[in-house]
Amino acid sequence: MPTPQHNRCFRLRRRPDGRVTGANLELVEEPIPELADGQALVRTLYLSLDPSNRIWMSEMRSYMPPVPLDAVMRGLGVGQVVASRRKDFPVGSLVLGWTGFQDYAVMDDATDEGPYTRLPEPLPAPLTMFLGALGHTGITAYLGMIDIGRPEPGDTVVVSAAAGAVGSIAGQLAKARGARTVGLAGGAAKCAHVVGKLGFDVCVDYKAADWRQQLAAAVPDGVDVNFENVGGVIMDEVLLHLNIGARVALCGMISQYESADATSSWAGQLSIGQLIMRRASMTGFLVLDHADRFPEAIEHLAGLLGDGRLQSDENVVDGLENAIDCLNGLFDGSNTGKQLLRVGEADAG
Ligand SMILES: NC(=O)c1ccc[n+]([C@@H]2O[C@H](COP(=O)([O-])OP(=O)(O)OC[C@H]3O[C@@H](n4cnc5c(N)ncnc54)[C@H](OP(=O)(O)O)[C@@H]3O)[C@@H](O)[C@H]2O)c1
Repeated sequence: MPTPQHNRCFRLRRRPDGRVTGANLELVEEPIPELADGQALVRTLYLSLDPSNRIWMSEMRSYMPPVPLDAVMRGLGVGQVVASRRKDFPVGSLVLGWTGFQDYAVMDDATDEGPYTRLPEPLPAPLTMFLGALGHTGITAYLGMIDIGRPEPGDTVVVSAAAGAVGSIAGQLAKARGARTVGLAGGAAKCAHVVGKLGFDVCVDYKAADWRQQLAAAVPDGVDVNFENVGGVIMDEVLLHLNIGARVALCGMISQYESADATSSWAGQLSIGQLIMRRASMTGFLVLDHADRFPEAIEHLAGLLGDGRLQSDENVVDGLENAIDCLNGLFDGSNTGKQLLRVGEADAG
């Protein structure tokens, strides 16, 4: 296949306020530069859409610097090497790394956000799973639930955004440990999915007018573990049900990300004093800090997938040009499970 000459990429032109539009992320076509020694050209195959994409577009203090204005939008993807001046990444290799929101990425250790990983050959699982259940998504659920939540048989575990990528896996991990699992999700159809397919014991529809009563009824013995993905009023309400010694794994606060910019801060949690009253702990964590634990997490997740105790949902949309809608969809709740964008096709040859 001839080396491609042109790349489509999304450049961050303006920091968003609320939903992301074409004025924030502009899709442009540019020539692909000639490769230098030590570089390789990666065709993006699938791009992971993550709530944190929205954080990185703002100027808020985060664990990674804001995406600079006019830079290609940061994103994790899986891809295939299509041209190479590196011995360790020959043409045809499948890779995982910071491809960005673009068709082609120039892999360059000197400038990349982090090193690319070469995926095993032959692939032990579908490629998309390396961004989902067997990638950063599943590993986040594993670290938060197993290390921080530490559910015991009979514990009541509450997971918010339970139909989403991380939440769906976190809840199933707790169930596999013998806990009683209560999800929160938006709408009756998602709640039916959370119980029917994902095996949670109960799911509370937080969009229903009586959701607070639904939650109270779902946790008659209180809450031992809260795997928190949403923050805001949902987290406040869950904290009011904590048992003595409860553990809160603070994974994310998606309800706050769209208001995050340099001048505004996230809403305070009104019920935070419950941590004192219930002698509870709340631990924030970041999957990227724990690369040494990835093999252990992947082995555990692969085992559960293999014996059918873990269901993994993916929501795949075609076409790089749909990245903005896909990203906004995470905030509308359009996705069930891992949101991915199919950007290109692998070259079988
Ligand atoms: N700490 C880490 O290392 C780490 C790593 C990855 C992800 N995360 C965090 O984990 C959380 C989940 O990420 P994900 O990738 O799995 O996304 P996801 O759950 O697949 O998608 C986001 C979901 O959040 C729900 N949501 C959006 N806005 C909401 C609101 N205002 N109130 C209530 N629910 C809302 C929607 O579900 P409904 O339809 O149910 O509303 C939506 O489907 C995020 O907070 C993310 O930042 C943390």
